[in-house]
Amino acid sequence: MRKHKIAPSVLAADFTRLADEIDMVNNSEADWIHLDVMDGRFVPNITFGMFIVEAIAKLAQKPLDVHLMILEPEKYIEAFRKAGAHVITVHYEACTHLNRTIHQIRETGALAGVALNPHTPVQLLEDVIEDTDLVCLMSVNPGFGGQKFIYNSMSKIRKLREMIDSRNSGALIEIDGGVGLQNAESILQAGADVLVAGSSVFSAQDPRATIQALKAFHPVFDF
Ligand code: DX5
Ligand code: ZN
Repeated sequence: MRKHKIAPSVLAADFTRLADEIDMVNNSEADWIHLDVMDGRFVPNITFGMFIVEAIAKLAQKPLDVHLMILEPEKYIEAFRKAGAHVITVHYEACTHLNRTIHQIRETGALAGVALNPHTPVQLLEDVIEDTDLVCLMSVNPGFGGQKFIYNSMSKIRKLREMIDSRNSGALIEIDGGVGLQNAESILQAGADVLVAGSSVFSAQDPRATIQALKAFHPVFDF
C-alpha cells in the first residue's frame, strides 16, 4: 500500500526560534519540509526568498519542498535549486510556458511540481501530467496560513487521482491549506499522497505528536 507523506509548512513556525522549529521537524515523522515563497505580486503577501531557504537547508535533515507563489518563477528556479530545494513547485497560473518550466526544473535535478489555485480545474493539467512529479492542489486561496479548507477540493483530488492513474503518471498529489487531524483521513481517502500542514502542526500543543498522528492514518482508498 502507498504511504502518504507529511510536509509541515514552516510558514506557521515561530521564526524567532527557527532552528528549534526545524529541529522539531527533523526529529519527527515528517517526510518533507514545506517552504512557502511569496512575492507580494502573485499573492497578496510577502514571505522569504532563497536566502532563508538556504539557511533552512543548512539545518534541515529532510527534503525541502519549495512552493513558489511568485510571478515569473522560471527566473529563479536555478537559484532555489542551489539554495537546497528538492521539490520546486510553480503555479499553473503564473506560467505562460508551463511545459518548458517543468523541464527546466527537472533539468536542475529537482522534482517538478505544479500548483493549482482553488478555481483552476485539474483537467488543465492533462497535457503535462506525464512530465510532472507532483501536483499541489491549493485547498485555500494561497497567501496565508490558517485558512479554512475549501470543500470543493475533495472532488478535485478524486478527478486528479483518476487522471494520474489512467495516464500512468507517477505524479504525487499534494494538498495544501487547511489540512489537519479533522480532515486528513478523508483527504487521503480521496487519493492524496502528500499533506501540507502549517498551523495544525505548529500551533498544536505537541507538534511532533500531531505530525505522528497525521502520518498514522491508514485510509481505505475509495479509488
Ligand atoms: C498558503 C500556503 C500554505 C500554508 C498552509 O498559501 O501555500 O502552505 O502554509 O497553512 P495552513 O496549513 O495553516 O493552512
Ligand atoms: Zn504552500
